[in-house]
Formats: sequence, C-alpha cells, structure tokens
Amino acid sequence: MDMDLALTNDGVLVIGGAKGIGQAIAQQFANEGADVVLADIDPQVTHAARTMNDTAAGEVCGSILDATNYEAVKALASELGGKQSKLKHIVYAAGVGSNKFGFPFWEMEPSDWPFVLEVNLMGAVNVAHAFASHMQHCGAGSILFIASIAAQMGSQTDPPYSAAKAAIVNFMQVVAKDFAPYNVRANAISPGMIQTTLNRSVWAAWNERQTDQDKQEYEDWAGEKIRTICPLGRWQTPEDIGKTAVFLASQAAGNITGQTINVDGGIIMHS
Ligand SMILES: NC(=O)c1ccc[n+]([C@@H]2O[C@H](COP(=O)([O-])OP(=O)(O)OC[C@H]3O[C@@H](n4cnc5c(N)ncnc54)[C@H](O)[C@@H]3O)[C@@H](O)[C@H]2O)c1
Repeated sequence: MDMDLALTNDGVLVIGGAKGIGQAIAQQFANEGADVVLADIDPQVTHAARTMNDTAAGEVCGSILDATNYEAVKALASELGGKQSKLKHIVYAAGVGSNKFGFPFWEMEPSDWPFVLEVNLMGAVNVAHAFASHMQHCGAGSILFIASIAAQMGSQTDPPYSAAKAAIVNFMQVVAKDFAPYNVRANAISPGMIQTTLNRSVWAAWNERQTDQDKQEYEDWAGEKIRTICPLGRWQTPEDIGKTAVFLASQAAGNITGQTINVDGGIIMHS
C-alpha cells in the first residue's frame, strides 16, 4: 500500500524547477496532487510548467525568477503568500557551478567566487527572508534546501561551490531553529552524482584542462567516478531526490527538522 503523504492541494514552490533535480522534485509533488509553482531564471520554465500541468491532478504554473534578485523574490512572495494562500512548502533547488576546474584552489581567482555564492547561497537566503513572514503565519509546512555532498567534504573540484553548499547546510539549521516554534520544518538534501547539465559542466571544466591523452568522454569520466567513490556503484537520479523531497515535506517526516539527508549511494557516511 502506498503511504498517504497528505500533500494533496498543498501549495509548493520550487525554485530552480525548470530542469534537472528541481523539475523532478516538482514532478513528484505534482504526482501527490499538490499545486506547484516552478520558478527559474531559465525562460523554459513556463514550458516545463505547462507540460507538467497537462498530466497533473493539481495546478502547475511557471514563473521566471532570478533568485539572486531580492526585490524579485519579494515580489513573488507577495504574489504567492498572504492569508488565503495554500503555499506550505518551499524548495530551493537553484544552483550553479563555477564552470572552472578549481584544483588546486589557486587555479581559480577570488573573483570566480561571488557569482557561485550569489546563486547557491544568497538566492536561498533571499527566499528564506522573503517568505519568512508567510511561513510564520502558515503555522505548518516546510522549507527544503538542495545542498550537495560537496558541502561535507571540502570538494577540491569547485571550491566556491563546496563552500556555498556548506554555508547553506549551516543556514538551514538556523532556519530550522527559528521556524520550529511556528511548526515549520527546514531540512536539506545532499544529492550525490546525478546526470544533469550541472554535472556535465563539472566534467567539461575538468576535461578542458586535461592533456589530449588524458581527456575522457563524459560517460567514461562519470562511470569511473561512480565506481571509485560510490559504494552502491550507481548514479543517483533526479527522481531519487524528488521522492526524498516529498517525504521530507509530508507529515510522515513531521519530526524531522534541521537535518541533511544524503541521497548519494553511500558516498558520504558519518557516524
Ligand atoms: N547534478 C548533481 O550531481 C548534483 C549533485 C549535488 C547537488 N546538486 C544540486 O542540485 C541542485 C539542482 O541542480 P541540477 O543538477 O538539477 O542542475 P541544473 O542546471 O539541471 O538545474 C539548476 C536549475 O537552477 C536554475 N537557476 C540557476 N540560477 C538561477 C537563479 N539565479 N535563479 C533561479 N534559478 C536559477 C537553472 O536555470 C536550472 O534550471 C543545485 O543546487 C545543485 O547544486 C546537483
């Protein structure tokens, strides 16, 4: 028997929902009968929302949003929030890599950092601030941040990305503590390795720096990585993250807050 996650008719906002992991998260919420708003800087978001809406039980719509623009995020909060609003769950899944190979770290410049921090960290901070008042009045619900296993291991591949993800895990814990008296939960998911445009950009930055004889196809590079670092020996999928996201939003996870769940095939194991 399927677990009833009781998300039908709840409002859900997914920032970074046009593609990849965010889109899969939105799809899983739509499958549960939630009303979903996809917000993304990519104008494709409206098309992605229309396609999802065609088969969804609830309503799915798209909104073009640059999460690094606080005024724009606040405008979306006043549009979606308020007394009559059904919005209960917010997911921050927007993210970027530096598109540079940062090993060793001095191969990058300090000037490569701000953009990566802006999108991965400040976008999430903007969203938490803009929706804080709505969530307090809501008196229920959740906020989820998509971090990364890079947050927990000082990943040498992309230092500003790694640092931004560590910061978001830390901020999530503050959000969880401050929202707890309002019965609003906050958590993070740290995905492992998922074949999205972002993952491909990590390979592209690496490959560009290799000598001709060391260059690899994306599939070979990725396959070798998975074999060497992932105990389960397989890729994670956007759907894996989507399913964990709806679980964390649901009452089944009613006592889970301030946690980072690694959906990574066992790459990271902490005692
Ligand atoms: N792919 C992986 O292996 C992996 C691993 C760990 C963590 N993650 C994280 O998962 C999340 C989703 O990444 P993905 O792999 O699906 O990448 P993706 O590039 O497929 O999707 C990221 C989405 O964020 C959007 N976005 C970027 N900047 C934005 C902005 N300023 N405002 C609004 N939207 C913006 C993009 O347009 C895109 O639709 C990111 O936070 C990423 O860091 C991915």
